[in-house]
Amino acid sequence: MNDNSSGEERSAADVWVLPAEELHGLWENLIYDSQLKEDFWNRFVLLHGPPGTGKTSLCRALAQKLAIRLSDRFPRARLVEINAQCLFSKWFSESGKLVAKLFDRIRMILEDRRLLVCTLVDEVESLTHARRATLAGLEPSDSIRTVNVILTQLDRLKRYPNALVLTTSNVTEAIDVAFVDRADNKRLVEPPSERTAYEILRGCCYELRAHGAVAPPLLLCAPLFSLRVLEGVRFVESDGSRASLRLLEVARSTAAAGASARALRRLAGRPRCRASSTFDALRAALAQQLRDAAYLCNSPAPTSPSF
Ligand SMILES: Nc1ncnc2c1ncn2[C@@H]1O[C@H](COP(=O)(O)OP(=O)(O)OP(=O)(O)O)[C@@H](O)[C@H]1O
Ligand SMILES: [Mg+2]
Repeated sequence: MNDNSSGEERSAADVWVLPAEELHGLWENLIYDSQLKEDFWNRFVLLHGPPGTGKTSLCRALAQKLAIRLSDRFPRARLVEINAQCLFSKWFSESGKLVAKLFDRIRMILEDRRLLVCTLVDEVESLTHARRATLAGLEPSDSIRTVNVILTQLDRLKRYPNALVLTTSNVTEAIDVAFVDRADNKRLVEPPSERTAYEILRGCCYELRAHGAVAPPLLLCAPLFSLRVLEGVRFVESDGSRASLRLLEVARSTAAAGASARALRRLAGRPRCRASSTFDALRAALAQQLRDAAYLCNSPAPTSPSF
């Protein structure tokens, strides 16, 4: 269920009934370098890191997983997604009061102790920005009041045994200390290393095949070994390992260029990639994406020799 109470195109809070079909399989599809998935569960979590590294997805996936795992204790579960940026742009004039109203509604559902409520506050850097700007005299004090209301309300949520607060930010340096202090667990989520990029790309290739986007005798259809198997054969090229080693080269290039997991995953749905006949096409699609991103960010395109 999406609760778009204002009727505008994007609501400040969306409510998901968990487990949600849309989130099925998300946890399994997320791959990270560290033990992030195993370690980050806590009552108040802050995930920070560059765009496209899977922070929002991981929060949603965790909520889904807990809804299933803890169903004996909590037969019902909800994920309330609050878009911090949206809170400010939409409700600016009466923001403080409206934020309080939103949290009143969350607390109302929390009164049902058999209901697990995961509250996700996405892109909290907009709160930080508002506080700084107010302190610098650039924004009206209404804005700082709103941020303070949000922080107080989050504190109050923590008192409920059936509440979990998840927050994300993609501006690591700029997170408000008031916010950082509240988090029981702060984790940096980084772009995938070569090994993780390989596993993500391998998953994409299998998805392309499952969707019938590539068919034999293309190289993309050859068996793709796990990294463990590749290590077992000491990365020696043979008919069996050739496709995997080519894909590993692509993964190396993307990791060197700092490509995000989002950029890698997007390949699975790209029409250009559907027509691809070799790993060169995959590599070209990745290079194009990185160039697009660099152009949009107004920064120089990646200079990885492989591209
Ligand atoms: N580690 C990962 N493994 C597999 N897929 C990933 C991973 N990280 C991100 N993705 C995919 O990339 C897409 C974008 O992820 P998501 O929106 O969660 O990133 P984000 O860190 O929240 O980005 P932003 O900072 O821009 O909000 C999703 O489709 C997600 O499935
Ligand atoms: Mg996000």
